[in-house]
Amino acid sequence: MFNEVPQRYDLMNRILTFRMDEMWRRKTVTECLKNYPSKVLDLCTGTGDLALRLAKKADGSIEVIGVDFSEPMMEVARKKALKKSINNIRFVFGDVANLPFPSNHFDSIGIGFAFRNLTYKNPNTRKYLSEILRVLKKNGRFVIVETSQPENMLMRKLYHFYMKNFVATIGGFLSGHPAAYHYLAHSARNYYNPLEVETLLKEAGFAKTEHLSLMTGMAAIYIAKK
Ligand SMILES: C[S@@+](CC[C@H](N)C(=O)[O-])C[C@H]1O[C@@H](n2cnc3c(N)ncnc32)[C@H](O)[C@@H]1O
Repeated sequence: MFNEVPQRYDLMNRILTFRMDEMWRRKTVTECLKNYPSKVLDLCTGTGDLALRLAKKADGSIEVIGVDFSEPMMEVARKKALKKSINNIRFVFGDVANLPFPSNHFDSIGIGFAFRNLTYKNPNTRKYLSEILRVLKKNGRFVIVETSQPENMLMRKLYHFYMKNFVATIGGFLSGHPAAYHYLAHSARNYYNPLEVETLLKEAGFAKTEHLSLMTGMAAIYIAKK
């Protein structure tokens, strides 16, 4: 599915979140860098938005790797890195089910709006989480920014209405890929709340978890420590 959407992927993110995704990504980067890492992995990097922000903010002092199993998405990421002259970054082909890195390698791992893909009705969820734990160093940080569920009933209804009527239809129309945006809207409407995500992480073996709620709970940042 992702091989079909790279050209308009960034633009659609900006439109559908009214640019709020940029603010959420900035906060995610701050959380990823809080432990002064030297090696950072951006999982499911896509067009590299999170990875490029990480590499830029850390100003050449850290090594950033973006991993994804969609080459067309990463081609966009590589072009962006070249254009912005960001050199401390590499984009590597790989599946989260079998990460091409040694154990206990990264100080921080980030993931932007793809944890839902790995965990919503996905039979490989356990494998993904055990691979993430394997490549993360002890005391390392796993930082997730993902859609969530507002606690307030009215906000939740509004959010679901927006997902169903705008993201699925307008996103599908503007992007030219209705199936991809239908999947996004459907999975976001049905995705886990923060308690469920933190339980999933703890059951997978993460020692400590916490979350920050964004925009009344429409999205959340999770910080899990190994
Ligand atoms: C919604 S996009 C998110 C892209 C980017 N992280 C961002 O912040 O915009 C999801 C990305 O996850 C990648 N992906 C999904 N499952 C994957 C897996 N098992 N292994 C590697 N990449 C995966 C897709 O190819 C796609 O590029």
